[in-house]
Amino acid sequence: MRRSLMNLTYIATAAMGLESIVAQEVRDLGFEDVKVENGKIIFKGDESALCRSNLWLRTADRVKLLVGEFKAETFDELFEQTKALPWSDFIPEDGEFPVIGKSVKSKLFSVSDCQAIVKKAVVDQMKNAYQRETWFSEEGPLYRIEVALLKDVATLTIDTSGTGLHKRGYRALHSEAPLKETMASALIKLTNWTPDKPFVDPFCGSGTIPIEAAMIGQNVAPGLNREFASENWNWIDKKVWYRAVEEAHDLAKYDTPLDIQGSDIDHKMIDLSINNAEEAGFGDFISFKQMQVRDFTTRKEYGYVISNPPYGERLGEKEEVKQLYRDMGEVFRPLETWSVYVITSNEQFEQLYGKAATKKRKLYNGHIKTDYYQYFGKRQPRS
Ligand SMILES: C[S@@+](CC[C@H](N)C(=O)[O-])C[C@H]1O[C@@H](n2cnc3c(N)ncnc32)[C@H](O)[C@@H]1O
Repeated sequence: MRRSLMNLTYIATAAMGLESIVAQEVRDLGFEDVKVENGKIIFKGDESALCRSNLWLRTADRVKLLVGEFKAETFDELFEQTKALPWSDFIPEDGEFPVIGKSVKSKLFSVSDCQAIVKKAVVDQMKNAYQRETWFSEEGPLYRIEVALLKDVATLTIDTSGTGLHKRGYRALHSEAPLKETMASALIKLTNWTPDKPFVDPFCGSGTIPIEAAMIGQNVAPGLNREFASENWNWIDKKVWYRAVEEAHDLAKYDTPLDIQGSDIDHKMIDLSINNAEEAGFGDFISFKQMQVRDFTTRKEYGYVISNPPYGERLGEKEEVKQLYRDMGEVFRPLETWSVYVITSNEQFEQLYGKAATKKRKLYNGHIKTDYYQYFGKRQPRS
């Protein structure tokens, strides 16, 4: 097993367009040597960085441990260089180590062959290291290996997260078109909302955006309610995990008052949201009510609307959604001190809303190309 764990390299993966937000989160956690590439944020740290990044990253998809990276244009090169990597430093004799793969613009394009070759090379290296002749039982903890080929460069990683980081553990139930928790968090992080300001999601569905806002508002680590594959790895002292969890509890500000409201036309969605918010521990901090967006009124000032309305992509929904966006304009345009943020794939949004956005940002919601329309409210005068 590995003796020095001081200088490991990690890759936090990010949805297309969210790299800069994930990178900022990584920097905020104090990790070093942060590099940004397409879909990944590379950083260095010891084993506590593994625990803390999994617990805290709100907008990353998962955290992988980099084992090696090299050019490979033939199966022989892939095999030999994989075999030369220190797999047994990370994977114990009883570890389960399935191999997944992907290949983009590379000579080695058969993913199943690459996976089989990597598996064989890892087995050979481990047989040597553990001095055994027989097959490994693989009955222990999971070390999921990935071979990712991009332009003939193979990147070999072990996944530390297990299920994707968007699974926070609170959303047992979801709506028909739920937003990924990581994306909901990114939408909030792209605004200047602070927890002392009113927050409204008038299309809350299963409550993802309000719940993520509450978590951000009280500085609650998104991973506190779930498990990670690497929790069972024997080279990470249990104390390192305990310390990371303890730190997360210490940093949470569970008594920060919040003014967060979620509403939806569908009362079933409101029941879902209430359930999910309770599961996340924010039952007392978010108010949910059944309401159509056109009935929204407020006397509050300097609030934030952050929402993911229907996009009108389904047949028969188009006209309805046009009216909905007009209604949104009627309701929110007069609120001069409020900032309004809307994600939609509908290119007519600004026209229907009746105002050009202050700023737009291209984002992918899953595979759907969307824009994040941002209307900045008047600045609050300094008192
Ligand atoms: C794309 S979903 C939102 C999903 C949500 N972000 C989540 O993560 O579960 C859009 C929501 O808008 C609601 N909706 C549709 N028309 C509405 C209206 N006129 N007023 C308020 N809500 C409406 C739907 O019931 C649906 O839950």
